[in-house]
Amino acid sequence: MPEGRASTGTITIRPGTLEDIPALVGLLMQAYRGLEEYGEESPKEAKHYLKWLRRTCKEGFLVAEAEGRPVGFIAACPDWKDWELGVVLEIHEIAVAPDWQGKGVGKALLEEVYALGRAHGMSLAALWVGEGNRKARRWYTKLGFKEIGRWGDWIRMFRPIPAAKDE
Ligand SMILES: CC(C)(COP(=O)(O)OP(=O)(O)OC[C@H]1O[C@@H](n2cnc3c(N)ncnc32)[C@H](O)[C@@H]1OP(=O)(O)O)[C@@H](O)C(=O)NCCC(=O)NCCS
Repeated sequence: MPEGRASTGTITIRPGTLEDIPALVGLLMQAYRGLEEYGEESPKEAKHYLKWLRRTCKEGFLVAEAEGRPVGFIAACPDWKDWELGVVLEIHEIAVAPDWQGKGVGKALLEEVYALGRAHGMSLAALWVGEGNRKARRWYTKLGFKEIGRWGDWIRMFRPIPAAKDE
């Protein structure tokens, strides 16, 4: 398998490219259906946001592909300065296409960025989640994140980056 790609069952995780952006715009808009206040207002806004994520996260901008199309993506910075926590692995965004949710794609994407965080010597992963995004808050809690604060409608969560399973 070429460097920078990982295969998890039927999905392949690889670096995201500019060519992925149009497909990811649709994916993002669908994933946030019903959660519009925490998503992007329009496909145009989503395109700007995705380009910003790709530019900002560089090696932490990863796409999960199945059946020849993106079915999820994650954008994480492995050396993000947080004013309270210090330098952390910051998970800016994660989204899985509705028809692929609940199949382990999100978990596989998180595990890839944990590996990136470890490679950068990070010990903590952190993120912001919308207060009303109960589904994602439950999901993060199930995956070991704890709520540590809030800013307006946004909840701050963090967890120690787990050790590699095969170390
Ligand atoms: C949140 C999201 C990324 C989760 O991705 P996913 O691919 O559906 O999640 P997975 O299938 O990898 O879930 C893995 C585990 O969590 C469990 N799980 C799934 N959804 C859950 C939920 N809402 N609450 C608790 N546990 C949940 C699964 O049963 C599975 O458990 P197991 O490993 O013990 O079998 C996806 O629902 C999504 O795209 N949501 C919309 C966008 C969004 O809210 N993003 C977060 C922004 S902060």
